[in-house]
Amino acid sequence: MRMVIEDAVREAGNDPIFAVAAKADKRIEEVGRDKVINSTIGALMDDDGNLVTFDSVYDVYKNLPDDQISNYAGIPGIAPFREKVVDACFRDKKPEAYIEAVATPGGTGAVRHAVANYTNPGDKILIPDWHWAPYQTIAQENRRSHTTFPLFNEKGAFNMEAYEKAILDLLKEQGRVLTILNTPAHNPTGYSLTVPEWKEIIDFFTKTAKEHPEWRIILLVDIAYIDFAGPDARDFMPLLSGLPENVLPLFAFSASKGYTMYGLRNGAIICAAPTQEIADEFAASCSFSNRGTWSNGSRGAMQALADIWSDEDKLNRSLDEQKENYELLRARADAFLEAADEVGLDLATYSDGFFISIPCDNAKELADKLMEEDLYTVALKKGLRFAPCAVSEEKCRRAPALIKKALDELK
Ligand SMILES: Cc1ncc(COP(=O)(O)O)c(C=O)c1O
Repeated sequence: MRMVIEDAVREAGNDPIFAVAAKADKRIEEVGRDKVINSTIGALMDDDGNLVTFDSVYDVYKNLPDDQISNYAGIPGIAPFREKVVDACFRDKKPEAYIEAVATPGGTGAVRHAVANYTNPGDKILIPDWHWAPYQTIAQENRRSHTTFPLFNEKGAFNMEAYEKAILDLLKEQGRVLTILNTPAHNPTGYSLTVPEWKEIIDFFTKTAKEHPEWRIILLVDIAYIDFAGPDARDFMPLLSGLPENVLPLFAFSASKGYTMYGLRNGAIICAAPTQEIADEFAASCSFSNRGTWSNGSRGAMQALADIWSDEDKLNRSLDEQKENYELLRARADAFLEAADEVGLDLATYSDGFFISIPCDNAKELADKLMEEDLYTVALKKGLRFAPCAVSEEKCRRAPALIKKALDELK
């Protein structure tokens, strides 16, 4: 007998990533941390396997008066957060547009609101073939579905041709499209769209939107990893200025990685709207969605981020800590890339970020085989995900040879 509605019947069981991570932990207990490469975790870990937490964030958070942590944040989020999160998102690269922010529990909440408010029930959202799996979950949970386009062309760059086709197909079918681009430092490949690629995308949106004023193009830029993507990471942002009225850029801002606030659930959905009217409509719809889902977010986390961005010393300390950890991650990724090159291991194009992917058809088999070598990875549909965010530089240098050997043995 079933009690849930047909639509809500779900498979039971643990998340497969957590299941592999548990195996890695067990193995570490048996043979010691040095011998095991646990690259399953999607958070920045130090070389001893402990979660990195920023002092510049927690010194502020833990010194907040209790009532500032405890109180409700108001439905759209506290006013200082809504103002300062815009600076945290764009820094000195703010587009010329009508900008509004509504607090959400992490970037996940922003994705949810974009799906719920900018697509019709039954619509398909557009995501690349390599993607963060929860986009599918969020679409499904909200009674939508998804379709994909190949992220890369044969040169390993953004597949503009396939992207244009997919957008046009959906516009013809639905009259509107919500496209999610997770850039810079895409999960799971580490790809960042280049500025010329951005220009091409924006030109295409502009042309299409002008030819069809009845269509709606909504672009959600998921910037979850932006603060680990180097000093040029925001160069594309000003390009999203002066767009036609029927193109709406949205940003999913997350404080999980850039401020190590993972479990505090802090983020925002931000619009860079072409008109004030569209920005006001955005704020009203997303605030209503807050009330109708989680009501409001974590007040202390919002206050801490607002305080950091309101005080020069606090901000400099925070940006220094981000930079220091970006460099740690960069050194690990470079070690992996160099070693991959030496052994001839092919990778999906990596620019920056927490993850590197190895394209293959048999990722599950490969991941199982690598566990015999005490290397724990995540098997995806399109390949294997390695997480330099979670392992030391020495282990990043060691891993490619193990992966190449296992791949060759499986051939
Ligand atoms: C691609 C991508 N987008 C968004 C998120 C959102 O994370 P959060 O909801 O913790 O901000 C994540 C987190 O893993 C992610 O990998």
